[in-house]
Amino acid sequence: MLPLDASTYLLVLTGAGISAESGVPTFRDAGGLWEGHAVEDVASPAGFARDPLMVWQFYSERRANMTAVAPNAAHHALAEVERRLGDRFLLVTQNVDGLHTAAGSERVIEMHGNLMRSRCSVCDRAPFEDRTAYRRGVAPMCGVCQRAGRDALLRPDIVWFGEAIVAGALPRIETFVDAAGAGLRFLAVGTSGLVYPAAGLVDVVRARGGRSWLVNADAPANARSFDTVTLGAAGKVLPEMFA
Ligand code: APR
Repeated sequence: MLPLDASTYLLVLTGAGISAESGVPTFRDAGGLWEGHAVEDVASPAGFARDPLMVWQFYSERRANMTAVAPNAAHHALAEVERRLGDRFLLVTQNVDGLHTAAGSERVIEMHGNLMRSRCSVCDRAPFEDRTAYRRGVAPMCGVCQRAGRDALLRPDIVWFGEAIVAGALPRIETFVDAAGAGLRFLAVGTSGLVYPAAGLVDVVRARGGRSWLVNADAPANARSFDTVTLGAAGKVLPEMFA
């Protein structure tokens, strides 16, 4: 159980595992998203420069799959805890599927971006909602650049390997952790603990004396860093987890 009281500040980190029961393939489980694609080919600036059509096909297929996907009990459980804790709750997700927001979570940091947004690969126009699953062979161009006489590809508004996470994410987390003081509690759900800076959050919390919980289908790389580890499916464990 994860006790919530008047002093609790709960920082939550989620990864692909929390969306697995919604039918979204994870990255590293057998049959994960990278099937048939080398990670560096579909999730790196170099891969996009090399073959933008193939990258847009990969993300367009993921966008198309999202039409049949809904939040599961784990997403709803976290939205309920946010309603109880208010601004003493902060959810940091590595996921780009938008399912936390769809479940009603509002205090969400999407540190790796969002699949249903695009942005220009050249100009500094703001990222914009784009649910289009482009058909094979189409890589969309930026209309703002075209009007300025430039050819520039649009790209998914997703943080690729080698790129900095969403601006402002770490300072917002730091501010929350500073405000928490002795009431700081950290819960990680459905993540393999392999990608930084997300995988290092548990160490930040421990250094502040905060207590940490992990809910995961199996023991990930950084399991030993957590005070309490519960192995199981997030959709089953989370609804029963908060006292
Ligand atoms: N409930 C809980 N945990 C689950 C479930 C489930 N139903 N199903 C799978 N898991 C666990 C797996 O055991 C695994 O440890 O979720 C974890 C998913 O790990 P990854 O596939 O590596 O996903 P994630 O940790 O989010 O990856 C981090 O790496 O590929 C990049 O940018 C991408 O955001 C991603 C980052």
